[in-house]
Amino acid sequence: MIKKAVFPAAGLGTRFLPATKASPKEMLPLVDKPLIQYAVEEAKNCGIEEFIVITGKHKRAIEDHFDSAFELEDALMKKGKKELLEEVRRLNRINFAYIRQRAPLGLGHAILCAKPFVKVEPFAVLLSDDVIDPDTPFLREMLELYREKEAPVIALEAVPDEDVEKYGIIDGTEESQGVFRVKGLVEKPRLRNAPSRLSVIGRYILTPDIFGLLETLPPGKGGEIQLTDALNQLAANRPVYGLVLKGRRYDAGDKLGFLQATVELALRDKVLSGQFRSFLNGLMANGKKEIR
Ligand code: G1P
Repeated sequence: MIKKAVFPAAGLGTRFLPATKASPKEMLPLVDKPLIQYAVEEAKNCGIEEFIVITGKHKRAIEDHFDSAFELEDALMKKGKKELLEEVRRLNRINFAYIRQRAPLGLGHAILCAKPFVKVEPFAVLLSDDVIDPDTPFLREMLELYREKEAPVIALEAVPDEDVEKYGIIDGTEESQGVFRVKGLVEKPRLRNAPSRLSVIGRYILTPDIFGLLETLPPGKGGEIQLTDALNQLAANRPVYGLVLKGRRYDAGDKLGFLQATVELALRDKVLSGQFRSFLNGLMANGKKEIR
C-alpha cells in the first residue's frame, strides 16, 4: 500500500510573475481553493496518509494554509458559520511534513529532498500545477496499476505538436489499452527529436530506487536535475509503465490552462454555476458583435 505522497512546491513560478513574486504559485486559487489543495485532496481520496511538501523561499503560506488558525476558527464559531468552520478545520487534520529545498535545482532534486521521509517505500508524486478533474479517479487507477505490475507508473497524455517542447515525452509501446511500457523519456525535446506525442503529466508512482539515480545524475535540461532523466535511466534497467489519463487535466502552471480550469470549475460550482453561466452566455452573445 502506498501511504506517502510528495508535493514539490519550491519552484519560482516565473510564468505567473508578478503574482508569484512574494506568494507561492501553489496558492493561486481556482475558484476558492488553492492549487495545492486540489492535489492534496486528490491524494487523500486515494488513501494517502502522509503528505510531504517540498518548499522553498516565499512558501510559508502553504504551511499556514494547512495549519490550524485559532482566531479564524474562533470567529467562525462565534458567528455560527458551521460549514466554513468545518471546511477550514478539515485541512488541519492532515499529516504534513515540510522539507525546504534550499535552491531551485529542479524537480529531480526536489524529489531527492524527500528521501529522509520516504525512506525505502514506494510513493506518489503530485505536481499541483497539473489539476486533474476532481471527479476522475485517475490516481487510484495509477495505484492499481502499480500494485499489479510492482513497477513505477507515470501519468501520460497525448499532446499536439506545438506542446511537445513543454513536457517530458516518452518512448514506449502500448501493452494494453492506455497502458504503455516506457522504454525511454526525454525532457522537453524539440519536436523533431520527440520520440512520440505522449507527454508526462504531473502524477508519478515511484519506487525508492529512484533516489540512487537522482543522487548521481548530472544536471540536464535548463541546468536542472531532471526527474525525467532519472526515469529514463530507470526504464533502461527495470519495467516502467505509463498510464494514459482518461478525463480532463488542466495545465494550471500556464496562464491559459489556469483560466480554462477556473472557468470549468466555476461552471461546476454548486453556488456559482447558474449566475456564472448566464454571465458567460451574455459575453458570448455580445462577443458575436464585438470580437476583434
Ligand atoms: C515537469 C516535468 C515534465 C513534465 C511536467 C508535467 O515540468 O519536468 O517532464 O512533463 O512537469 O507538468 P515543469 O512543468 O515543472 O516545467
